[in-house]
Amino acid sequence: MLLIAERHGKTTTQFMLRWNIDRNTAVIPKSANRERLKSNLDIFDFTFSAEEMNKIANLDQNKRGFVNPNNNFFLWITQFLR
Ligand SMILES: NC(=O)c1ccc[n+]([C@@H]2O[C@H](COP(=O)([O-])OP(=O)(O)OC[C@H]3O[C@@H](n4cnc5c(N)ncnc54)[C@H](OP(=O)(O)O)[C@@H]3O)[C@@H](O)[C@H]2O)c1
Repeated sequence: MLLIAERHGKTTTQFMLRWNIDRNTAVIPKSANRERLKSNLDIFDFTFSAEEMNKIANLDQNKRGFVNPNNNFFLWITQFLR
């Protein structure tokens, strides 16, 4: 991701924001920092190639960092809160 971001003269954060938007995901980057607000908006002056999009998609290992909401999430959360 760093290599692709650098190729476009962007940070990895900008890379991730644009990539999510290109996938039609709603992205809401909150920041209290003026420079980061500007940077988070400065993401529309480049496009990913099809090869880059494929490389990024191939990073997916179908793993989650948190519980799967489709798999007894509410049961898990009630047990966790007890
Ligand atoms: N999370 C949710 O489930 C949820 C649901 C509905 C609505 N929202 C709304 O979505 C917005 C974001 O929510 P959130 O939970 O994601 O906010 P958050 O975690 O409270 O804040 C985002 C964090 O990202 C940092 N950040 C922003 N731009 C960055 C950049 N370019 N590089 C490095 N760090 C950066 C911010 O730091 P700095 O401020 O220091 O830049 C802040 O610490 C909010 O307006 C919230 O109300 C969130």
